[in-house]
Amino acid sequence: MNKLTSTNTLVALALAGGVVFGGAALADVDGVLTINGELEIVTKTTPPAHLADNLDEIVSGWVYRAAETQELQMDDFDNPGMLFVDIAQDDWGTVEGTEGKSCATCHDNVEDSMAGVRAVYPKWNDEAEEVRTLAMQINSCRTERMGAEPLKITKGKMARMEALISVQSRGMPMNVAIDGPVQAMWEQGKEMYYTRTGQLELSCANCHEDSYGLHIRSDFLSQGQTNGFPVYRLKNAKLTTAHGRFKGCVRDTRAETYKPGSAAFNALELYVASRGNGLSVEGPSVRN
Ligand code: HEC
Ligand code: HEC
Repeated sequence: MNKLTSTNTLVALALAGGVVFGGAALADVDGVLTINGELEIVTKTTPPAHLADNLDEIVSGWVYRAAETQELQMDDFDNPGMLFVDIAQDDWGTVEGTEGKSCATCHDNVEDSMAGVRAVYPKWNDEAEEVRTLAMQINSCRTERMGAEPLKITKGKMARMEALISVQSRGMPMNVAIDGPVQAMWEQGKEMYYTRTGQLELSCANCHEDSYGLHIRSDFLSQGQTNGFPVYRLKNAKLTTAHGRFKGCVRDTRAETYKPGSAAFNALELYVASRGNGLSVEGPSVRN
């Protein structure tokens, strides 16, 4: 399944804080995720064309979690992330800002207006001539159309709005565009993904492409996919956004981290999202 992991990378992984085991410690990778007994989630599939030379298959992070954690995501009553979706449903209808508007004023029912949206973000915005992450789009609506304050990129109110929007696309395949006007930014994100950083000289790819399935720090390395974001983390009982997770991963290589919401992290988000093209939107998912 994995490519050969170089000795240097294994040493660095061990330094990152955990004992690294070989293939013997592989997680059970044959999971099927069905939510509420009816919603089928694709957790393993063939990679998008741009990854065909690097991976045999793409796999959701859900597959690498322990059975108890996996089960929490199989029923919305057990998924603690859904409590935040309920709160965001109230936010959706709450008037904020100088224009006296709520999200619902313009977008009506979130179920209808936001179906399919999460699957194609980050996405090019023609009018603004920029790639927008979901967080950027939410803040653009808040500041430019509602006269409201932008939300902090990694904070709870943003994370739960992203969760509410994600739920409307659950089960749909991730389908982020990578060509045309977004291509330059996608290349930048790709470059970041394969560049070794920090004292440990580890790239995202060293862990999430070369070493997924390995046991590190009492955890199993996944492919670091973002189809499950935002994720509810059992560790701190909160929703985490993709940029929050990227920040933690960069810090683990003992590198200076980029700022959540920065152009660099937006490019990385676009690239990482495209590595999951074909996996189902899963958010809010449940992770360690
Ligand atoms: C005054 C009307 C208005 C309000 C209020 C508003 N939006 Fe929007 N929203 C728009 C328009 C118009 C677009 C499409 C144009 C654009 O891309 O900016 C849009 C686009 C979006 C999109 C992208 C949809 C897609 O298909 O790509 C999202 C997500 C979104 N809004 C979320 C929100 C959220 C969340 C709120 C509340 C915090 C909100 N909007 C409030 C007018 C509004
Ligand atoms: C030292 C190894 C290491 C490096 C380097 C690393 N990560 Fe991670 N990452 C982890 C571990 C451990 C986890 C938690 C277990 C898992 O899901 O893999 C994780 C989780 C993730 C997740 C969450 C996946 C999910 O399904 O919940 C994403 C996304 C992610 N990493 C992206 C990145 C990106 C992007 C980079 C490069 C900037 C990176 N990681 C670099 C170790 C690493």
